[in-house]
Amino acid sequence: MNFTDIIKAFVTGITHSVVSRVGAIMASVIFPVLLTATMLDMQGIIHNPYFGFVLYMVLGPLFILSLVLIFAGLFFFKGKEGVGYFTYEYLKEQFSAPERFIRVRKLIVICTALSVINIAIIVLISYEGYHFMESEDFCGGICHTAMAPEHTAYLNSPHSSVRCVECHIGPGAQWFIKSKISGARQLVAVALGNFSRPIATPIHGLRPARETCEECHRPELFHGEKLYIKDKYLPDEQNTNVQTVLLMKVGSGGYRGSKANGIHWHVAPENKITYKHQDKGRLEISEVTLAKPNGTMVDFKAPGADEAEEAKETGHQERIMDCLDCHNRPTHIYLSPNEALDLKLNHGDIPLELPYIKKQGLAVISKDYKSSEEAKNNIATELRAWYLQNYPDVVKNNMELLDKAIAGVQAAYAENVFPEMNINWNTYTNFLGHKNDSGCFRCHDESHETSSGETISQDCDKCHIILAEDEPAPEVLKTLRGSNN
Ligand code: HEC
Ligand code: HEC
Ligand code: HEC
Ligand code: HEC
Ligand code: HEC
Repeated sequence: MNFTDIIKAFVTGITHSVVSRVGAIMASVIFPVLLTATMLDMQGIIHNPYFGFVLYMVLGPLFILSLVLIFAGLFFFKGKEGVGYFTYEYLKEQFSAPERFIRVRKLIVICTALSVINIAIIVLISYEGYHFMESEDFCGGICHTAMAPEHTAYLNSPHSSVRCVECHIGPGAQWFIKSKISGARQLVAVALGNFSRPIATPIHGLRPARETCEECHRPELFHGEKLYIKDKYLPDEQNTNVQTVLLMKVGSGGYRGSKANGIHWHVAPENKITYKHQDKGRLEISEVTLAKPNGTMVDFKAPGADEAEEAKETGHQERIMDCLDCHNRPTHIYLSPNEALDLKLNHGDIPLELPYIKKQGLAVISKDYKSSEEAKNNIATELRAWYLQNYPDVVKNNMELLDKAIAGVQAAYAENVFPEMNINWNTYTNFLGHKNDSGCFRCHDESHETSSGETISQDCDKCHIILAEDEPAPEVLKTLRGSNN
């Protein structure tokens, strides 16, 4: 047997077995496509979530299947001699006689070479496929309608360059596998269109925040107080800019002798806070327990907590307080109508020169719309009609001003409201602060009491010092900037 004979035997083996033949045809069709597509993807030439999906979730597995078919065919197919080509008997016969072994050496070389190439390709596909499954494209792009709200809010957040998996899965194989199992179920739900709208929160089975957030953030190293300046606009003719200035007691979880203090005192290792809540949304807190470093337990109970405990109402659950009890919206931040417009006005996406735009914008985005399309059209027609009637001179001479304002108001709506997912203003609660939702005041309400009458403080200076509230040009900022303007 010489080299060509071996190739012939190999090819004959394949052609004689139906299974191998199917595998070989599949492999030769898929291989060039797969290789080219993987190269294009690695170079970042094609950037489309469906491209990655077809490549890694469909073509990749099919290619591996085709290789399996080829070898399965060769293994089970019996040639003229009634011996399978790659069976144990066949190989034993070839290996036992030295002169035969010299001949099969070439066969081994071919097989090894082919295997090395195949393994290299499979490793490449798996590596790229793994990264694809970890990408924001896969999480946010494939499940278009289902993830549109989270994806949109994420893109406008401070975490827009942190990949979804960093918070939702985190490091380690255990959570990766867990997520793929629940991911498969979710993929089916998306394909069948029977996922819940909106997706209910709080999410259960989310990895404990301290294992994910603390990969990047170290609350024990935070310190001191931080100045927060919030720009707002009044609903008057000039859309007057006012500012709220807070000195936020961000504090620290305590580190190397510095004591835990301020807001991040809750997450210091020595303070363990658990709480019981009666509702799914964790808004109705009946009891808060603080385990102090010296081992004493302090129990703050809401009025009626004991009766609720006895009744063991459905949904009653206990939870250890962590980052998410305040930062439940670190990246999927949905704003209120007021905040959404203030942000657009502040960025100049809505021109401040247009009289009453804050007021008119607010009126038109606060309405209920059945679809994003309807909202978009209605915002445009209503604003156009109102300005042509009330400020014809302003807009007729400067149509771009109105067009820009309309686009800005439409964006303020589209970035926060998703009628297709039944997400309206304030569908999702935000625990940080106490403005639109009870937030910190779920516990800090002076009505959770210990048996000796201590309460969880609502003292306005406990968490922040209010330096200015809704003031045009606050004095404190002038002082800080050392100027009079
Ligand atoms: C900075 C961390 C972080 C990143 C990055 C992140 N998420 Fe989330 N996400 C969360 C947290 C925390 C919650 C839980 C909210 C709750 O339980 O109340 C959440 C909730 C969700 C929900 C449930 C619905 C909702 O709005 O609360 C979906 C869906 C979701 N995330 C998808 C995504 C997708 C898709 C991406 C990437 C485009 C992503 N997440 C990126 C932290 C993150
Ligand atoms: C992979 C790293 C990473 C992870 C994981 C992560 N973050 Fe962040 N986070 C960042 C970065 C980077 C910034 C700073 C963004 C900036 O300053 O523009 C940030 C900013 C923040 C801020 C400040 C936001 C602001 O308005 O300035 C908060 C609060 C925060 N993260 C909370 C969280 C919470 C809670 C989690 C866990 C659910 C989390 N982060 C997980 C990287 C991460
Ligand atoms: C008791 C509520 C609470 C808890 C618990 C909490 N935070 Fe915060 N955190 C805040 C508040 C309030 C602020 C300041 C206001 C803001 O960022 O809008 C803040 C600020 C931050 C910032 C920005 C700090 C800066 O200096 O800009 C980061 C990052 C952060 N928190 C991460 C975390 C992480 C990670 C955890 C969990 C280990 C955590 N926080 C637990 C309430 C909390
Ligand atoms: C699950 C209940 C709970 C929630 C929610 C909660 N806290 Fe607390 N907090 C406590 C308890 C209990 C104490 C200790 C009693 C006290 O000091 O009044 C405390 C104490 C504090 C302290 C004083 C820490 C110190 O130095 O002694 C600050 C500041 C604080 N909380 C800020 C906040 C902020 C800001 C939020 C919302 C973003 C918040 N808390 C949400 C339970 C809670
Ligand atoms: C347990 C902590 C805590 C207590 C007590 C507290 N606040 Fe706050 N407050 C916050 C946090 C946190 C924010 C910032 C939320 C954010 O970043 O949006 C805030 C924001 C504010 C703002 C700015 C809101 C805005 O964006 O316009 C005002 C005004 C305010 N608080 C007033 C008060 C007053 C008045 C009291 C006393 C009755 C009080 N707060 C008590 C935690 C607290």
